[in-house]
Parts: sequence; structure tokens; C-alpha cells
Amino acid sequence: MQINPSHQAPVSAAPIVVSVQGESPARAREAANQLALEYGNYRDAVGLILVVGETSAWLELEGVKVTVKFDSAAMQHRRKGGHNEMLGRAVGLKADRKPLIWDATGGLGRDAFVLADLGCEVTLCERVPVLAWLLDQAVQAAAVSGIDQVRGAAERISVLAGDSKTLRAPAGTVIYLDPMFPERKKAAAVKKEAVMLQHLADQVDDGESLWQWAWEQPVERIVVKRPLRAPILGHIRPSHTLKGKSVRFDVFTRRLERS
Ligand SMILES: C[S@@+](CC[C@H](N)C(=O)[O-])C[C@H]1O[C@@H](n2cnc3c(N)ncnc32)[C@H](O)[C@@H]1O
Repeated sequence: MQINPSHQAPVSAAPIVVSVQGESPARAREAANQLALEYGNYRDAVGLILVVGETSAWLELEGVKVTVKFDSAAMQHRRKGGHNEMLGRAVGLKADRKPLIWDATGGLGRDAFVLADLGCEVTLCERVPVLAWLLDQAVQAAAVSGIDQVRGAAERISVLAGDSKTLRAPAGTVIYLDPMFPERKKAAAVKKEAVMLQHLADQVDDGESLWQWAWEQPVERIVVKRPLRAPILGHIRPSHTLKGKSVRFDVFTRRLERS
């Protein structure tokens, strides 16, 4: 994982790192060092904690646990869903064309993993350091998974820690944006994850400035995931939109002069 230290995200809730009870604390201490976070004791820790074991790690807040695990049953189920096919079409995936994806809002890496599973090379950037760390650990774990397809997808994912807006997306990539959106009614499990993400960040993501950044990059396709009825990002109508049950993908395409 590459860290962009001058642009660490301002987080409102820096977690305390604790080790899984009964397991060696070495990996938890190493994570605390790497992330410059306090190392504590599970029993005394209050609020948000990053629990790190020998082979597992998760965020925990008031009994709610969030982890990134690409070979979980939930992810295996997800790869069979119609949502994946729509995401693939949104980024312009064809049988003979696997676009390079620049995912500027990494989150829990689920969309990135789906795209990598579909055969795309994906660079994923996450500004909250502890999430970037979890993503990086999940990619490393997936790289030695017993499931061939998970290993294959992991080989196509790279994680960057930092603010996407400080980086330049390489020419020819497809930029993917999925900024956090204030939650309304949603399935309880999804809501819990969203609450955790919002707890970690200092604010709901500024989708408009991310879109503006994306528009300034040398790319010909930008895909924005939005709740179905949310307003579009930016000041330009999408070239086309793909609609699912609760989300849609706004696709912006253009031709750039090549020098
Ligand atoms: C809704 S989540 C993305 C979920 C992701 N698509 C998935 O499938 O798990 C949005 C994430 O974007 C991150 N984010 C927002 N602005 C960012 C920026 N400027 N640079 C990097 N990450 C950013 C937030 O910290 C949050 O984790």
C-alpha cells in the first residue's frame, strides 16, 4: 500500500487498536505503529476500536463490526448478482475490453472487487487511513485465498491511501466515484456499515468536488454511483444512466484530444 502522508484525512474518530483476545498482539501493535494510532486493551477501550488478530481484523463500534473480506460468503453471493453486470456495463466492460479502473472512493472495496473479478485492473484510493489499511490487508489475504477466482481478482487490485483529489488519474482509465450520501431508509445491515463509514470520516463526502476533480483528469469515462433519486453530480448531464432498484450509475463519456 502506498501512503500519501501529506494528505491524511481529517478523521473525527481515530480508533484505538486492540488485539484479538488469546492471540498474539504483534500484528495489532504493528498496525497501531503503521497507522500512528493508540494501542489499547480490549476491556478498557470505549468507542471505535480496530481489532487486529493474527489473521483477521475488523472495526467495531458499540457491538457493530465491519470488516473487509473478499472471500466471504456475502462477497461470493454478490458476484452472482445483477448489480455486477450493470456495474460492468457502466464502466464500459466488453468481452474483449477490460478497462483500467481508478476507484477514487474506495470505502470497503466491494465495487472494486466486483470490477477486478470481472477482469479489470483496479486502483483504489481511500482517504481514511484505517479503511485503506483494512483494504490493503484484505487484498493481501485474498491473494492467498483458497478460491482461485478470489486470488485472481486480488492480483488486479492496488490500494492507495490518501485523498484522491491530490492525485492524477492516469490517462485512459475510467474513474469510478461512489461518494457517501446521507442515509435514509435502508436495510439495517447496510445502514450500520454506512453509520460506521460516516463515523470514521469527518463529514459526508463532498461529491461535487470529487466530480470536479474527476472532470479535470485526462479520462474519457467517469462513472458515478448515486442513490436512485439523488440529484446528479456536477453541472453536465450524464451521457447515459443505468438504473437499478435503489442505485443508479450516471455515465459521463467524452473524447479527449490526444497530443
Ligand atoms: C460510499 S463509500 C464507497 C463504497 C465503495 N464503493 C464500496 O463498494 O465499498 C465512500 C468512500 O469514499 C471515501 N472518500 C471520499 N472522498 C474521498 C477522497 N477525496 N479520496 C479518497 N477517498 C474518499 C470515503 O472515506 C468513503 O470510505
